[in-house]
Amino acid sequence: MSDTCVVSTPAKLALFGEHAVVYGGHCIVTAVNKRMWVKIRDSRETVLTSKDMGFDHYLIEKGTTYPRNAAFVIAAMQSISNYFGGSFGGEIEIWSDFSAKYGLGSSSAVTVGVIKALAHLNNLKLDNGTLFHIAYDAVLNVQGRHKKSGMPLASGFDVASAIYGGTIDFSQNGKVRALPISDIPLIVAYSGEKASTAFYVNKVADLCAGHNSLCQSLFSISDEIVKLAESALLRSDWEEVGILMTLNHGLLSSLGVSTETLGRLVSLAIKGGAYGAKLSGAGGGDCVIAVAGKDSYENVSERLESGGAEILPLDMNAEGVKVEASGN
Ligand code: PMV
Repeated sequence: MSDTCVVSTPAKLALFGEHAVVYGGHCIVTAVNKRMWVKIRDSRETVLTSKDMGFDHYLIEKGTTYPRNAAFVIAAMQSISNYFGGSFGGEIEIWSDFSAKYGLGSSSAVTVGVIKALAHLNNLKLDNGTLFHIAYDAVLNVQGRHKKSGMPLASGFDVASAIYGGTIDFSQNGKVRALPISDIPLIVAYSGEKASTAFYVNKVADLCAGHNSLCQSLFSISDEIVKLAESALLRSDWEEVGILMTLNHGLLSSLGVSTETLGRLVSLAIKGGAYGAKLSGAGGGDCVIAVAGKDSYENVSERLESGGAEILPLDMNAEGVKVEASGN
């Protein structure tokens, strides 16, 4: 039996259907070529080291309270032991190809990586569906539920993306359909503003608690956009993909999750000749994505940069969770 295992998981970008997916709708998400790395060595003590997360040999013991950014690691260990019984841990080292500030899904990538590595080390068979449910439980334990409506504050789309990779259509309870699409001529622009996903998911849940039927109508339009986007993506119709992105952005704005900066960046991309653009993720900051043809691609990137954004060179359709090494 091996006593060390290294697992990598991809970061992700939400393309369509954010927020509506929390309420049973569909979303489209792609895994990108920046990865989170988890190395676990079998050990009686559980010790966490991660320069990226600010831990150096941090001893994890029962009954202590943990800093918030260790929460997903702890929840992952708890969730796998709830499922299989017994206790799980070891010397855990975590590092990343990307900064957590970009909002590319580092928490779910860590959660999936820790569970996959612990299962592998302990010779436990784990199909992707089971891995999803264990990891989603862990994420929900950290994110919680909306106080008034009891809605879960996470759909699990990012967990599924970290597991399956590629580009997928995701809907409730971990339902996943792989979408065999070509890489979109996508521009990813970090707005410079760090957003709290939990805050914005709560904000939409507050809105929906008071305006349920209006929100449901918006969510069904979101689903319509996702359906049209899937077909446009499959036929590589980038102009139509862009139009649908801008529509999706308008819908997310009406849910109250856009910001002045995100709105400005979307406008700059469109003025620069993009087919369309939208915020990506929960809103409040993080990234804007734009689709542009060959003739305007450079111009759109320059406009976004001159508007204060940082262009992130990302490739889509990356591979899902992967055991990279295992041995003694
Ligand atoms: O902010 P991100 O990239 O984690 O995306 C959140 C997407 C939501 O639909 C708002 C929440 C969710 O869990 O689906």
